[in-house]
Amino acid sequence: MAGRIPQSFIDELLNRTDIVEVIDTRVPLKKAGREYKACCPFHNEKTPSFTVSQVKQFYHCFGCGEHGTAITFLMAYEHMEFVEAIEELAHRAGLEVPHEAGPEPHTSSILPHYALLDRVSAYYQAQLREHPQAGRAIAYLKNRGLSGDVAARFQIGFAPPGWENLAAALGRDSKVQQQLLELGLTIKRDDGNGAYDRFRDRIQFPIHDRRGRTIGFGGRVLDDGTPKYLNSPESPVFHKGKELYGLFEARKAVRNLERILVVEGYMDVVALAQFDINYAVATLGTATTHEHLESLFRTVPEVVFCFDGDRAGREAAWRALVNTLPVLRDGREARFLFLPDDEDPDSLVRKIGSDAFEKQVETATHLSDFFFDRLSSQVDISSIDGRARLVTLAKPLLASLPDSVFRQLMFERLAELAHTSTTRVAGPEVALPAGPDPGPSIKSSPARRAGQKSPVRQAIELLLYKPALAAEVTLPASIRQCSQPGVSLLIEIIELIQQQPEINTAVLLEHWRNHEDGRYLSKLACWRPPLDDLELAADLQGNLNEIERQHIENRINYLDSEHKQRALSNAEKQEYGKLLLQSHAARQH
Ligand code: UTP
Ligand code: MN
Repeated sequence: MAGRIPQSFIDELLNRTDIVEVIDTRVPLKKAGREYKACCPFHNEKTPSFTVSQVKQFYHCFGCGEHGTAITFLMAYEHMEFVEAIEELAHRAGLEVPHEAGPEPHTSSILPHYALLDRVSAYYQAQLREHPQAGRAIAYLKNRGLSGDVAARFQIGFAPPGWENLAAALGRDSKVQQQLLELGLTIKRDDGNGAYDRFRDRIQFPIHDRRGRTIGFGGRVLDDGTPKYLNSPESPVFHKGKELYGLFEARKAVRNLERILVVEGYMDVVALAQFDINYAVATLGTATTHEHLESLFRTVPEVVFCFDGDRAGREAAWRALVNTLPVLRDGREARFLFLPDDEDPDSLVRKIGSDAFEKQVETATHLSDFFFDRLSSQVDISSIDGRARLVTLAKPLLASLPDSVFRQLMFERLAELAHTSTTRVAGPEVALPAGPDPGPSIKSSPARRAGQKSPVRQAIELLLYKPALAAEVTLPASIRQCSQPGVSLLIEIIELIQQQPEINTAVLLEHWRNHEDGRYLSKLACWRPPLDDLELAADLQGNLNEIERQHIENRINYLDSEHKQRALSNAEKQEYGKLLLQSHAARQH
Protein backbone atom coordinates (compact mmCIF):
# COMPACT_ATOMS: atom_id res chain seq x y z
CA MET A 1 0.00 0.00 0.00
CA ALA A 2 1.38 3.39 -0.87
CA GLY A 3 0.16 6.16 1.38
CA ARG A 4 -3.18 7.07 2.87
CA ILE A 5 -6.45 6.94 0.99
CA PRO A 6 -7.82 10.50 0.77
CA GLN A 7 -11.04 11.11 2.72
CA SER A 8 -12.59 12.75 -0.34
CA PHE A 9 -12.26 9.43 -2.18
CA ILE A 10 -13.95 7.57 0.66
CA ASP A 11 -16.76 10.15 0.53
CA GLU A 12 -17.20 9.60 -3.20
CA LEU A 13 -16.93 5.85 -2.91
CA LEU A 14 -19.68 5.68 -0.29
CA ASN A 15 -21.84 8.02 -2.32
CA ARG A 16 -21.61 5.57 -5.20
CA THR A 17 -22.16 2.51 -3.03
CA ASP A 18 -25.48 1.11 -1.93
CA ILE A 19 -25.12 -0.73 1.35
CA VAL A 20 -28.31 -2.66 0.60
CA GLU A 21 -26.69 -4.22 -2.47
CA VAL A 22 -23.42 -4.88 -0.68
CA ILE A 23 -25.15 -6.71 2.15
CA ASP A 24 -27.90 -8.35 0.08
CA THR A 25 -25.42 -10.36 -2.02
CA ARG A 26 -24.04 -11.82 1.20
CA VAL A 27 -27.05 -11.85 3.51
CA PRO A 28 -30.34 -11.79 1.58
CA LEU A 29 -32.44 -8.87 2.81
CA LYS A 30 -36.20 -8.41 2.93
CA LYS A 31 -37.87 -5.04 2.61
CA ALA A 32 -39.76 -4.03 5.75
CA GLY A 33 -41.24 -0.54 5.64
CA ARG A 34 -38.51 1.93 4.88
CA GLU A 35 -35.79 -0.46 5.96
CA TYR A 36 -34.44 -3.87 5.06
CA LYS A 37 -34.25 -6.81 7.42
CA ALA A 38 -32.57 -10.17 7.83
CA CYS A 39 -31.57 -12.59 10.53
CA CYS A 40 -28.37 -11.15 11.92
CA PRO A 41 -25.21 -12.65 10.43
CA PHE A 42 -23.28 -11.71 13.56
CA HIS A 43 -25.25 -13.69 16.10
CA ASN A 44 -27.66 -16.61 16.14
CA GLU A 45 -31.31 -15.70 15.96
CA LYS A 46 -34.60 -16.94 14.60
CA THR A 47 -36.47 -13.66 14.14
CA PRO A 48 -34.75 -10.92 12.18
CA SER A 49 -33.44 -7.96 14.17
CA PHE A 50 -30.71 -6.99 11.71
CA THR A 51 -31.86 -3.84 9.88
CA VAL A 52 -30.31 -1.93 7.04
CA SER A 53 -31.27 1.66 6.31
CA GLN A 54 -30.81 2.72 2.72
CA VAL A 55 -31.23 6.38 3.61
CA LYS A 56 -28.59 6.33 6.32
CA GLN A 57 -26.48 3.74 4.46
CA PHE A 58 -26.10 2.14 7.86
CA TYR A 59 -26.86 -1.26 9.38
CA HIS A 60 -27.74 -2.07 12.95
CA CYS A 61 -28.73 -5.22 14.79
CA PHE A 62 -31.13 -4.63 17.65
CA GLY A 63 -30.23 -8.05 19.00
CA CYS A 64 -26.46 -7.94 19.33
CA GLY A 65 -25.77 -4.26 18.73
CA GLU A 66 -23.47 -4.70 15.72
CA HIS A 67 -23.66 -1.66 13.47
CA GLY A 68 -21.78 0.37 10.90
CA THR A 69 -21.32 1.41 7.30
CA ALA A 70 -20.71 -0.68 4.18
CA ILE A 71 -17.01 -0.52 4.99
CA THR A 72 -17.60 -1.73 8.53
CA PHE A 73 -19.81 -4.52 7.21
CA LEU A 74 -17.13 -5.90 4.90
CA MET A 75 -14.55 -5.69 7.67
CA ALA A 76 -16.83 -7.54 10.09
CA TYR A 77 -18.46 -10.04 7.74
CA GLU A 78 -15.63 -10.79 5.33
CA HIS A 79 -12.89 -10.21 7.89
CA MET A 80 -11.31 -7.64 5.60
CA GLU A 81 -8.84 -4.99 6.62
CA PHE A 82 -9.94 -1.39 6.07
CA VAL A 83 -7.95 -1.02 2.85
CA GLU A 84 -9.23 -4.35 1.54
CA ALA A 85 -12.80 -3.23 2.16
CA ILE A 86 -12.15 0.02 0.30
CA GLU A 87 -10.62 -1.89 -2.58
CA GLU A 88 -13.58 -4.26 -2.74
CA LEU A 89 -16.10 -1.40 -2.83
CA ALA A 90 -14.00 0.52 -5.37
CA HIS A 91 -13.85 -2.55 -7.56
CA ARG A 92 -17.66 -2.82 -7.48
CA ALA A 93 -18.03 0.86 -8.26
CA GLY A 94 -15.43 0.74 -11.03
CA LEU A 95 -13.16 3.24 -9.27
CA GLU A 96 -9.41 3.23 -8.90
CA VAL A 97 -8.19 3.72 -5.31
CA PRO A 98 -5.87 6.73 -5.17
CA HIS A 99 -3.22 7.02 -2.49
CA GLU A 100 -1.90 10.25 -1.05
CA ALA A 101 1.87 10.51 -0.96
CA GLY A 102 2.67 8.42 2.09
CA PRO A 103 3.62 10.16 5.30
CA GLU A 104 6.39 7.65 6.07
CA PRO A 105 9.54 8.20 4.03
CA HIS A 106 9.90 4.41 3.80
CA THR A 107 6.74 3.69 1.88
CA SER A 108 8.29 3.71 -1.55
CA SER A 109 11.06 1.34 -0.55
CA ILE A 110 8.74 -1.05 1.27
CA LEU A 111 7.02 -2.34 -1.83
CA PRO A 112 10.12 -4.05 -3.16
CA HIS A 113 10.66 -5.61 0.30
CA TYR A 114 7.52 -7.70 -0.18
CA ALA A 115 8.54 -8.60 -3.70
CA LEU A 116 11.99 -9.62 -2.58
CA LEU A 117 10.64 -11.71 0.31
CA ASP A 118 8.35 -13.52 -2.12
CA ARG A 119 11.32 -14.30 -4.35
CA VAL A 120 13.31 -15.60 -1.40
CA SER A 121 10.38 -17.75 -0.36
CA ALA A 122 10.09 -19.16 -3.88
CA TYR A 123 13.83 -19.85 -3.83
CA TYR A 124 13.61 -21.83 -0.55
CA GLN A 125 10.65 -23.81 -1.89
CA ALA A 126 12.55 -24.62 -5.07
CA GLN A 127 15.54 -25.78 -3.03
CA LEU A 128 13.32 -28.26 -1.22
CA ARG A 129 12.70 -29.89 -4.59
CA GLU A 130 15.97 -29.31 -6.39
CA HIS A 131 18.94 -28.97 -4.08
CA PRO A 132 21.32 -31.97 -4.03
CA GLN A 133 20.83 -32.18 -0.27
CA ALA A 134 17.05 -31.71 -0.36
CA GLY A 135 16.65 -35.42 0.42
CA ARG A 136 17.66 -34.78 4.04
CA ALA A 137 15.08 -32.03 4.43
CA ILE A 138 12.33 -34.07 2.80
CA ALA A 139 13.18 -37.05 4.99
CA TYR A 140 12.95 -34.80 8.05
CA LEU A 141 9.51 -33.51 7.09
CA LYS A 142 8.28 -37.04 6.28
CA ASN A 143 9.64 -38.22 9.59
CA ARG A 144 7.53 -35.58 11.29
CA GLY A 145 4.52 -36.85 9.48
CA LEU A 146 3.96 -34.02 7.03
CA SER A 147 2.56 -34.71 3.58
CA GLY A 148 3.77 -32.92 0.48
CA ASP A 149 0.34 -31.38 0.32
CA VAL A 150 0.53 -29.63 3.65
CA ALA A 151 4.15 -28.63 3.03
CA ALA A 152 3.01 -27.01 -0.20
CA ARG A 153 0.04 -25.33 1.47
CA PHE A 154 2.34 -23.66 4.00
CA GLN A 155 4.97 -23.04 1.30
CA ILE A 156 7.60 -24.78 3.40
CA GLY A 157 11.09 -24.56 1.95
CA PHE A 158 14.71 -25.47 2.51
CA ALA A 159 17.57 -23.06 3.15
CA PRO A 160 20.50 -25.12 1.90
CA PRO A 161 23.86 -25.31 3.69
CA GLY A 162 26.39 -22.67 2.63
CA TRP A 163 27.06 -19.05 3.46
CA GLU A 164 26.16 -16.97 0.43
CA ASN A 165 23.30 -18.75 -1.28
CA LEU A 166 20.94 -15.79 -1.36
CA ALA A 167 23.46 -13.46 -2.94
CA ALA A 168 24.18 -16.09 -5.56
CA ALA A 169 20.51 -16.72 -6.22
CA LEU A 170 19.29 -13.12 -6.28
CA GLY A 171 22.21 -11.38 -7.96
CA ARG A 172 24.88 -9.18 -6.45
CA ASP A 173 23.11 -5.89 -7.06
CA SER A 174 24.08 -3.63 -4.17
CA LYS A 175 20.54 -2.44 -3.58
CA VAL A 176 19.34 -6.02 -3.22
CA GLN A 177 22.21 -6.76 -0.82
CA GLN A 178 21.19 -3.77 1.25
CA GLN A 179 17.61 -4.95 1.32
CA LEU A 180 18.56 -8.47 2.35
CA LEU A 181 20.42 -6.95 5.29
CA GLU A 182 17.49 -4.73 6.21
CA LEU A 183 15.19 -7.73 6.19
CA GLY A 184 17.62 -9.75 8.30
CA LEU A 185 17.96 -12.43 5.66
CA THR A 186 21.68 -11.81 5.66
CA ILE A 187 24.02 -10.67 8.43
CA LYS A 188 26.96 -8.31 8.00
CA ARG A 189 30.37 -9.87 8.52
CA ASP A 190 32.38 -8.59 11.49
CA ASP A 191 35.22 -7.42 9.27
CA GLY A 192 32.76 -5.42 7.24
CA ASN A 193 33.44 -7.42 4.07
CA GLY A 194 30.04 -8.44 2.76
CA ALA A 195 27.35 -10.49 4.46
CA TYR A 196 26.37 -14.09 5.02
CA ASP A 197 23.03 -15.92 5.05
CA ARG A 198 21.12 -16.00 8.34
CA PHE A 199 19.30 -19.22 7.47
CA ARG A 200 21.57 -22.15 6.61
CA ASP A 201 20.66 -25.81 6.42
CA ARG A 202 17.21 -25.25 7.87
CA ILE A 203 13.57 -26.04 7.12
CA GLN A 204 12.01 -22.68 6.23
CA PHE A 205 8.54 -21.63 7.33
CA PRO A 206 7.56 -18.45 5.51
CA ILE A 207 5.52 -16.06 7.66
CA HIS A 208 2.69 -14.25 5.86
CA ASP A 209 0.72 -11.22 6.87
CA ARG A 210 -3.06 -11.52 6.77
CA ARG A 211 -3.09 -10.55 3.12
CA GLY A 212 -0.67 -13.32 2.23
CA ARG A 213 2.47 -11.29 1.63
CA THR A 214 5.68 -12.90 2.86
CA ILE A 215 7.10 -10.82 5.69
CA GLY A 216 9.69 -13.09 7.29
CA PHE A 217 10.77 -16.66 8.01
CA GLY A 218 11.21 -19.13 10.80
CA GLY A 219 13.86 -21.75 10.20
CA ARG A 220 14.24 -25.06 12.03
CA VAL A 221 17.38 -27.18 12.27
CA LEU A 222 17.18 -30.70 10.85
CA ASP A 223 18.80 -32.27 13.89
CA ASP A 224 19.35 -31.42 17.54
CA GLY A 225 21.47 -28.37 16.79
CA THR A 226 20.88 -25.02 18.45
CA PRO A 227 19.16 -22.74 18.28
CA LYS A 228 16.28 -25.00 17.32
CA TYR A 229 14.44 -22.17 15.59
CA LEU A 230 15.82 -19.02 14.05
CA ASN A 231 13.41 -16.22 13.21
CA SER A 232 13.64 -13.18 10.99
CA PRO A 233 14.38 -10.13 13.13
CA GLU A 234 11.98 -7.20 13.28
CA SER A 235 12.15 -5.31 10.00
CA PRO A 236 10.23 -2.56 8.21
CA VAL A 237 7.65 -5.18 7.18
CA PHE A 238 7.85 -7.70 10.04
CA HIS A 239 6.52 -6.95 13.52
CA LYS A 240 6.35 -9.95 15.82
CA GLY A 241 3.98 -8.29 18.24
CA LYS A 242 1.45 -7.89 15.46
CA GLU A 243 1.69 -10.90 13.21
CA LEU A 244 0.48 -14.44 13.72
CA TYR A 245 1.91 -17.45 11.93
CA GLY A 246 -0.81 -19.31 10.04
CA LEU A 247 -3.53 -16.65 10.12
CA PHE A 248 -3.42 -16.14 6.36
CA GLU A 249 -3.44 -19.89 5.75
CA ALA A 250 -6.36 -20.38 8.17
CA ARG A 251 -8.45 -17.64 6.57
CA LYS A 252 -7.75 -19.18 3.19
CA ALA A 253 -8.56 -22.74 4.21
CA VAL A 254 -11.77 -22.11 6.15
CA ARG A 255 -14.41 -20.00 4.48
CA ASN A 256 -16.35 -18.98 7.53
CA LEU A 257 -13.82 -19.09 10.31
CA GLU A 258 -15.59 -19.13 13.66
CA ARG A 259 -12.84 -20.07 16.03
CA ILE A 260 -9.07 -19.74 16.17
CA LEU A 261 -6.72 -21.81 18.23
CA VAL A 262 -3.57 -20.02 19.40
CA VAL A 263 -0.58 -22.34 19.82
CA GLU A 264 3.11 -21.80 20.44
CA GLY A 265 5.00 -23.33 17.55
CA TYR A 266 5.24 -23.36 13.78
CA MET A 267 5.19 -27.14 13.83
CA ASP A 268 2.04 -27.17 15.93
CA VAL A 269 0.18 -25.10 13.33
CA VAL A 270 1.37 -27.26 10.47
CA ALA A 271 0.81 -30.57 12.27
CA LEU A 272 -2.75 -29.57 13.19
CA ALA A 273 -3.39 -28.67 9.56
CA GLN A 274 -2.09 -32.10 8.60
CA PHE A 275 -4.89 -33.44 10.80
CA ASP A 276 -7.40 -31.19 9.12
CA ILE A 277 -7.57 -28.73 12.00
CA ASN A 278 -7.04 -25.66 9.88
CA TYR A 279 -7.74 -22.88 12.34
CA ALA A 280 -4.54 -22.77 14.40
CA VAL A 281 -2.13 -19.83 14.50
CA ALA A 282 1.10 -19.30 16.43
CA THR A 283 2.60 -16.26 18.05
CA LEU A 284 6.16 -15.82 16.89
CA GLY A 285 8.14 -16.65 20.01
CA THR A 286 6.53 -13.71 21.87
CA ALA A 287 3.72 -13.33 24.37
CA THR A 288 0.23 -12.68 23.02
CA THR A 289 -0.04 -8.93 22.62
CA HIS A 290 -2.99 -6.59 22.60
CA GLU A 291 -2.50 -6.18 18.84
CA HIS A 292 -2.61 -9.94 18.31
CA LEU A 293 -5.89 -10.07 20.16
CA GLU A 294 -7.43 -7.21 18.23
CA SER A 295 -6.46 -8.95 15.02
CA LEU A 296 -7.83 -12.31 16.19
CA PHE A 297 -11.15 -10.97 17.40
CA ARG A 298 -11.53 -8.96 14.24
CA THR A 299 -11.42 -12.30 12.46
CA VAL A 300 -13.43 -14.60 14.73
CA PRO A 301 -15.67 -14.34 17.80
CA GLU A 302 -13.96 -17.16 19.67
CA VAL A 303 -10.27 -17.61 20.52
CA VAL A 304 -8.96 -20.71 22.28
CA PHE A 305 -5.48 -20.43 23.76
CA CYS A 306 -3.51 -23.63 23.90
CA PHE A 307 -0.80 -23.77 26.54
CA ASP A 308 1.33 -26.30 28.37
CA GLY A 309 -0.25 -27.45 31.59
CA ASP A 310 2.96 -26.75 33.51
CA ARG A 311 3.70 -23.70 35.62
CA ALA A 312 5.28 -21.70 32.80
CA GLY A 313 2.33 -22.51 30.55
CA ARG A 314 -0.15 -21.34 33.17
CA GLU A 315 1.77 -18.12 33.66
CA ALA A 316 1.74 -17.51 29.91
CA ALA A 317 -1.97 -18.28 29.83
CA TRP A 318 -2.61 -15.78 32.61
CA ARG A 319 -0.71 -13.09 30.72
CA ALA A 320 -2.82 -13.84 27.68
CA LEU A 321 -5.95 -13.56 29.83
CA VAL A 322 -4.91 -10.18 31.20
CA ASN A 323 -4.32 -8.92 27.66
CA THR A 324 -7.63 -10.32 26.49
CA LEU A 325 -9.86 -8.60 29.04
CA PRO A 326 -9.83 -5.12 27.42
CA VAL A 327 -10.95 -6.49 24.04
CA LEU A 328 -13.64 -8.83 25.36
CA ARG A 329 -16.74 -7.09 24.09
CA ASP A 330 -20.09 -8.86 24.13
CA GLY A 331 -20.16 -11.61 21.53
CA ARG A 332 -16.49 -12.40 21.96
CA GLU A 333 -15.23 -15.37 23.88
CA ALA A 334 -11.82 -16.60 25.01
CA ARG A 335 -11.05 -20.06 26.39
CA PHE A 336 -8.00 -21.93 27.58
CA LEU A 337 -6.90 -25.44 26.70
CA PHE A 338 -4.24 -26.76 29.06
CA LEU A 339 -2.29 -29.64 27.61
CA PRO A 340 -1.09 -32.69 29.52
CA ASP A 341 2.54 -32.74 30.68
CA ASP A 342 5.14 -33.09 27.96
CA GLU A 343 2.69 -32.72 25.14
CA ASP A 344 2.37 -29.97 22.59
CA PRO A 345 -0.50 -29.75 20.08
CA ASP A 346 1.68 -31.47 17.49
CA SER A 347 2.41 -34.51 19.67
CA LEU A 348 -1.08 -34.62 21.16
CA VAL A 349 -2.99 -34.61 17.91
CA ARG A 350 -0.79 -37.41 16.61
CA LYS A 351 -1.44 -39.42 19.74
CA ILE A 352 -5.21 -38.98 20.09
CA GLY A 353 -6.31 -37.99 16.58
CA SER A 354 -8.23 -34.98 15.38
CA ASP A 355 -11.69 -35.88 16.74
CA ALA A 356 -10.47 -36.28 20.29
CA PHE A 357 -8.34 -33.17 19.95
CA GLU A 358 -11.24 -31.08 18.72
CA LYS A 359 -13.36 -32.38 21.57
CA GLN A 360 -10.77 -30.99 23.95
CA VAL A 361 -10.87 -27.67 22.13
CA GLU A 362 -14.63 -27.58 22.48
CA THR A 363 -14.54 -28.25 26.19
CA ALA A 364 -11.64 -25.90 26.95
CA THR A 365 -11.80 -23.88 30.18
CA HIS A 366 -13.87 -20.71 30.03
CA LEU A 367 -12.04 -17.48 30.72
CA SER A 368 -14.34 -16.77 33.66
CA ASP A 369 -13.50 -20.12 35.29
CA PHE A 370 -9.76 -19.75 34.77
CA PHE A 371 -9.97 -16.21 36.15
CA PHE A 372 -11.79 -17.05 39.37
CA ASP A 373 -10.09 -20.42 39.93
CA ARG A 374 -6.69 -18.86 39.72
CA LEU A 375 -7.43 -15.85 41.93
CA SER A 376 -9.32 -17.97 44.46
CA SER A 377 -6.35 -20.30 44.72
CA GLN A 378 -4.15 -17.37 45.68
CA VAL A 379 -6.23 -16.37 48.71
CA ASP A 380 -7.95 -18.10 51.60
CA ILE A 381 -11.51 -17.80 50.42
CA SER A 382 -12.87 -19.09 53.74
CA SER A 383 -11.69 -15.99 55.62
CA ILE A 384 -12.95 -12.45 55.42
CA ASP A 385 -9.39 -11.25 54.82
CA GLY A 386 -8.97 -13.64 51.94
CA ARG A 387 -12.22 -12.60 50.34
CA ALA A 388 -11.28 -8.93 50.69
CA ARG A 389 -7.98 -9.74 49.02
CA LEU A 390 -9.83 -11.52 46.24
CA VAL A 391 -11.82 -8.38 45.54
CA THR A 392 -8.64 -6.29 45.60
CA LEU A 393 -6.94 -8.60 43.08
CA ALA A 394 -9.92 -9.01 40.79
CA LYS A 395 -11.30 -5.49 40.68
CA PRO A 396 -8.63 -3.72 38.62
CA LEU A 397 -8.61 -6.59 36.13
CA LEU A 398 -12.38 -6.65 35.73
CA ALA A 399 -12.35 -2.88 35.43
CA SER A 400 -10.42 -3.29 32.17
CA LEU A 401 -13.34 -5.17 30.61
CA PRO A 402 -15.38 -3.08 28.17
CA ASP A 403 -18.90 -2.20 29.22
CA SER A 404 -20.84 -5.38 28.55
CA VAL A 405 -23.18 -7.97 29.94
CA PHE A 406 -20.13 -10.15 30.52
CA ARG A 407 -18.50 -7.48 32.66
CA GLN A 408 -21.66 -7.17 34.70
CA LEU A 409 -21.82 -10.93 35.23
CA MET A 410 -18.15 -11.10 36.22
CA PHE A 411 -18.68 -8.45 38.88
CA GLU A 412 -21.73 -10.34 40.10
CA ARG A 413 -19.72 -13.53 40.38
CA LEU A 414 -16.97 -11.71 42.25
CA ALA A 415 -19.53 -10.33 44.68
CA GLU A 416 -20.92 -13.84 45.17
CA LEU A 417 -17.50 -15.30 45.90
CA ALA A 418 -16.71 -12.47 48.30
CA HIS A 419 -20.12 -12.80 49.98
CA THR A 420 -20.96 -9.19 49.32
CA SER A 421 -23.06 -7.15 46.90
CA THR A 422 -22.20 -6.09 43.39
CA THR A 423 -22.57 -2.47 44.46
CA ARG A 424 -19.92 -3.03 47.13
CA VAL A 425 -17.35 -4.57 44.79
CA ALA A 426 -17.95 -2.47 41.74
CA GLY A 427 -19.50 0.81 42.79
CA PRO A 428 -23.04 1.82 41.85
CA GLU A 429 -22.45 2.38 38.17
CA VAL A 430 -21.81 -1.28 37.50
CA ALA A 431 -24.67 -2.51 39.63
CA LEU A 432 -27.24 -0.38 37.84
CA PRO A 433 -28.94 -1.91 34.84
CA ALA A 434 -26.93 -0.91 31.78
CA GLY A 435 -28.03 2.63 30.94
CA PRO A 436 -27.12 4.65 27.88
CA ASP A 437 -23.36 4.91 27.47
CA PRO A 438 -22.28 8.51 28.02
CA GLY A 439 -19.40 7.94 25.60
CA PRO A 440 -15.80 8.98 25.87
CA SER A 441 -16.07 12.72 25.76
CA ILE A 442 -19.70 13.57 26.34
CA LYS A 443 -20.34 12.96 30.01
CA SER A 444 -23.70 13.84 31.48
CA SER A 445 -23.69 16.82 33.76
CA PRO A 446 -24.29 15.93 37.40
CA ALA A 447 -27.44 18.05 37.51
CA ARG A 448 -29.21 15.70 35.10
CA ARG A 449 -30.95 12.57 36.26
CA ALA A 450 -29.19 9.32 35.39
CA GLY A 451 -30.36 8.04 32.02
CA GLN A 452 -31.45 11.40 30.69
CA LYS A 453 -29.55 12.35 27.59
CA SER A 454 -27.62 15.59 27.35
CA PRO A 455 -28.79 18.11 24.75
CA VAL A 456 -25.45 17.69 22.99
CA ARG A 457 -26.01 13.99 22.66
CA GLN A 458 -29.57 14.47 21.46
CA ALA A 459 -28.46 17.02 18.89
CA ILE A 460 -25.81 14.66 17.55
CA GLU A 461 -28.30 11.79 17.40
CA LEU A 462 -30.71 13.92 15.40
CA LEU A 463 -27.99 15.00 12.97
CA LEU A 464 -26.77 11.45 12.49
CA TYR A 465 -30.33 10.30 11.92
CA LYS A 466 -30.96 12.98 9.32
CA PRO A 467 -27.97 15.18 8.43
CA ALA A 468 -30.15 17.47 6.31
CA LEU A 469 -31.69 18.84 9.52
CA ALA A 470 -28.59 21.02 9.88
CA ALA A 471 -29.94 23.27 7.12
CA GLU A 472 -33.22 23.81 8.97
CA VAL A 473 -31.83 25.31 12.17
CA THR A 474 -29.90 28.41 13.16
CA LEU A 475 -26.83 28.01 15.25
CA PRO A 476 -27.17 30.07 18.45
CA ALA A 477 -24.73 32.96 18.45
CA SER A 478 -22.53 31.97 21.35
CA ILE A 479 -22.59 28.20 20.92
CA ARG A 480 -19.01 28.27 19.65
CA GLN A 481 -17.83 29.63 22.99
CA CYS A 482 -19.33 26.69 24.88
CA SER A 483 -16.71 24.56 26.55
CA GLN A 484 -19.16 21.79 27.43
CA PRO A 485 -17.95 18.33 26.44
CA GLY A 486 -19.01 17.33 22.95
CA VAL A 487 -19.92 20.79 21.68
CA SER A 488 -16.84 21.08 19.48
CA LEU A 489 -17.64 17.65 18.01
CA LEU A 490 -21.20 18.78 17.37
CA ILE A 491 -19.96 21.90 15.59
CA GLU A 492 -17.53 19.85 13.49
CA ILE A 493 -20.44 17.66 12.41
CA ILE A 494 -22.57 20.66 11.50
CA GLU A 495 -19.72 22.21 9.50
CA LEU A 496 -19.13 18.99 7.61
CA ILE A 497 -22.82 18.85 6.70
CA GLN A 498 -22.69 22.47 5.56
CA GLN A 499 -19.81 21.58 3.23
CA GLN A 500 -21.65 18.50 1.90
CA PRO A 501 -25.37 19.21 2.20
CA GLU A 502 -26.26 15.85 0.61
CA ILE A 503 -24.06 13.86 2.98
CA ASN A 504 -25.52 10.64 4.37
CA THR A 505 -24.94 9.12 7.78
CA ALA A 506 -22.36 6.60 6.56
CA VAL A 507 -20.19 9.17 4.79
CA LEU A 508 -20.34 11.33 7.88
CA LEU A 509 -19.33 8.51 10.21
CA GLU A 510 -16.40 7.46 8.05
CA HIS A 511 -14.81 10.87 8.71
CA TRP A 512 -14.38 9.76 12.33
CA ARG A 513 -13.24 6.16 11.69
CA ASN A 514 -9.76 6.69 13.11
CA HIS A 515 -10.80 9.16 15.76
CA GLU A 516 -11.50 8.21 19.35
CA ASP A 517 -15.03 9.60 19.05
CA GLY A 518 -15.75 7.37 16.04
CA ARG A 519 -17.06 4.37 17.96
CA TYR A 520 -19.26 6.58 20.06
CA LEU A 521 -20.68 8.38 17.03
CA SER A 522 -21.58 5.18 15.27
CA LYS A 523 -23.37 4.05 18.41
CA LEU A 524 -25.42 7.24 18.39
CA ALA A 525 -26.17 6.62 14.71
CA CYS A 526 -28.26 3.62 15.78
CA TRP A 527 -30.81 5.95 17.34
CA ARG A 528 -34.08 6.61 15.56
CA PRO A 529 -37.05 8.72 16.55
CA PRO A 530 -39.74 6.87 18.46
CA LEU A 531 -42.66 7.88 16.25
CA ASP A 532 -42.46 10.03 13.15
CA ASP A 533 -40.22 12.71 11.75
CA LEU A 534 -42.41 15.78 12.07
CA GLU A 535 -40.75 17.59 14.93
CA LEU A 536 -37.14 16.69 14.29
CA ALA A 537 -35.92 20.12 13.17
CA ALA A 538 -37.68 21.78 16.09
CA ASP A 539 -36.14 19.23 18.45
CA LEU A 540 -32.71 19.94 17.08
CA GLN A 541 -33.21 23.68 17.42
CA GLY A 542 -34.42 23.16 20.97
CA ASN A 543 -31.34 21.17 21.88
CA LEU A 544 -29.01 23.76 20.35
CA ASN A 545 -30.75 26.52 22.29
CA GLU A 546 -30.55 24.47 25.45
CA ILE A 547 -26.81 23.99 25.00
CA GLU A 548 -26.38 27.74 24.73
CA ARG A 549 -28.69 28.38 27.68
CA GLN A 550 -26.67 26.02 29.87
CA HIS A 551 -23.47 27.67 28.77
CA ILE A 552 -24.78 31.13 29.65
CA GLU A 553 -26.04 29.93 33.00
CA ASN A 554 -22.73 28.24 33.87
CA ARG A 555 -20.83 31.35 32.92
CA ILE A 556 -23.09 33.62 34.99
CA ASN A 557 -22.74 31.31 37.99
CA TYR A 558 -19.00 31.28 37.54
CA LEU A 559 -18.73 35.07 37.39
CA ASP A 560 -21.10 35.38 40.37
CA SER A 561 -18.91 33.20 42.53
CA GLU A 562 -15.71 34.91 41.35
CA HIS A 563 -17.26 38.25 42.14
CA LYS A 564 -17.72 37.19 45.77
CA GLN A 565 -13.96 36.62 46.10
CA ARG A 566 -12.38 39.32 43.97
CA ALA A 567 -13.13 42.34 41.82
CA LEU A 568 -14.10 41.41 38.26
CA SER A 569 -12.04 42.86 35.44
CA ASN A 570 -13.68 45.31 33.06
CA ALA A 571 -13.90 42.69 30.35
CA GLU A 572 -15.57 40.33 32.78
CA LYS A 573 -18.05 42.97 33.85
CA GLN A 574 -18.94 43.61 30.24
CA GLU A 575 -19.34 39.91 29.61
CA TYR A 576 -21.54 39.62 32.68
CA GLY A 577 -23.88 42.30 31.43
CA LYS A 578 -24.08 40.69 28.02
CA LEU A 579 -24.76 37.30 29.53
CA LEU A 580 -27.64 38.66 31.59
CA LEU A 581 -29.20 40.11 28.46
CA GLN A 582 -28.73 36.84 26.59
CA SER A 583 -30.14 34.90 29.46
CA HIS A 584 -33.16 37.13 29.48
CA ALA A 585 -33.57 36.78 25.71
CA ALA A 586 -33.19 33.01 25.94
CA ARG A 587 -36.09 32.81 28.39
CA GLN A 588 -38.29 34.50 25.77
CA HIS A 589 -37.72 31.57 23.36
P1 UTP B 1 9.15 -25.31 20.88
O1 UTP B 1 10.55 -25.67 21.22
O2 UTP B 1 8.06 -25.72 21.80
O3 UTP B 1 8.86 -25.71 19.41
O4 UTP B 1 9.09 -23.76 20.62
P2 UTP B 1 8.05 -26.86 18.74
O5 UTP B 1 7.07 -26.26 17.83
O6 UTP B 1 7.60 -27.91 19.69
O7 UTP B 1 9.21 -27.40 17.85
P3 UTP B 1 9.45 -28.84 17.36
O8 UTP B 1 8.19 -29.58 17.55
O9 UTP B 1 10.58 -29.36 18.16
O10 UTP B 1 9.84 -28.60 15.93
C1 UTP B 1 7.88 -23.13 20.29
C2 UTP B 1 8.15 -21.89 19.47
O11 UTP B 1 9.07 -21.05 20.14
C3 UTP B 1 9.93 -20.42 19.21
C4 UTP B 1 9.45 -20.83 17.85
O12 UTP B 1 8.51 -19.88 17.40
C5 UTP B 1 8.79 -22.16 18.13
O13 UTP B 1 7.85 -22.50 17.14
N1 UTP B 1 11.35 -20.85 19.38
C6 UTP B 1 11.67 -22.03 19.97
C7 UTP B 1 12.33 -20.04 18.90
O14 UTP B 1 12.05 -18.96 18.38
N2 UTP B 1 13.63 -20.41 19.03
C8 UTP B 1 14.00 -21.60 19.58
O15 UTP B 1 15.20 -21.91 19.64
C9 UTP B 1 12.99 -22.40 20.08
MN1 MN C 1 6.89 -29.70 19.14
